[in-house]
Amino acid sequence: MIGIFDSGIGGLSVYREIKKLLPHEDYVYYADNAHCPYGEKTKEYIIGRAREITEILVKKGADIIVVACNTATAAAISTLRAEYSDPGNEKTREKMLRLSGGRIDHIRFIGMEPAIKPAVAMTRSGVAGVLATAGTLKAEKYRHTRDTMHGDVVVAEHIGQGFVELVENGETSGPHAEEVVRNSLKPLIDEGADTIVLGCTHYPFLIDVIRKIAGPGVTVIDPAPAVARHLLEVMQEEGLLSGNPDCQATSDAGAKNPGHSEFLSSGPDNILKKIASEI
Ligand code: DGL
Repeated sequence: MIGIFDSGIGGLSVYREIKKLLPHEDYVYYADNAHCPYGEKTKEYIIGRAREITEILVKKGADIIVVACNTATAAAISTLRAEYSDPGNEKTREKMLRLSGGRIDHIRFIGMEPAIKPAVAMTRSGVAGVLATAGTLKAEKYRHTRDTMHGDVVVAEHIGQGFVELVENGETSGPHAEEVVRNSLKPLIDEGADTIVLGCTHYPFLIDVIRKIAGPGVTVIDPAPAVARHLLEVMQEEGLLSGNPDCQATSDAGAKNPGHSEFLSSGPDNILKKIASEI
């Protein structure tokens, strides 16, 4: 079973891509919307939430976890891997066996990677824009990726101020959404960005508004499809796929497992359930 979590419904933009690639797996998704947004919280706070959610997902049956949140990946994935991924560590082994009822002795994590590399390869203006949360933009992990990959390309960054709140409220179009998006996107376009990386998993739900405001000359990159492909590779390597990997996207495997998804949240779940059912 694949566990997925985010501070809210943003991670559903990643679930959507994974589900297309692996329709016959079982999923458990956790939206931590009682503690959303993560973008302004401290690293320690996010690590605490990530630990608690990891343990919930393992108890629910997850044997691999996708941290479908750029902010949580940047803040917490190295701690999660150190604490839950090494079966050679006696403490990890004992804890994971206990949480999973003897099913697994460690768990793999797949995180969000900011798509700096494809943006650098695609830009013609020499300026790549990144929209992300404050937490992601100031994180060591993000800055390291940016600094090692940007080469001659200028990386212009802006917080998507108010974007997460729009998406959590289900407001993904209309004049107010456009005004909020314009305020953060315009500075990147003015700096000459012709490629915009969506560095927060909530932002793809605003992609139509972002494209409308950015105009046809700007390419918008959502890293979710690449993360889904990486997950598939890791699951193949680890022997975690429930059906024949070659027929995951065909009806053959469906005969064996139709694929079930469960959606949990720490806060109200009306918008979560609505978007999940649309996906
Ligand atoms: N969806 C998240 C991300 O990818 C977090 C948004 C937030 O809670 O601030 O960064």
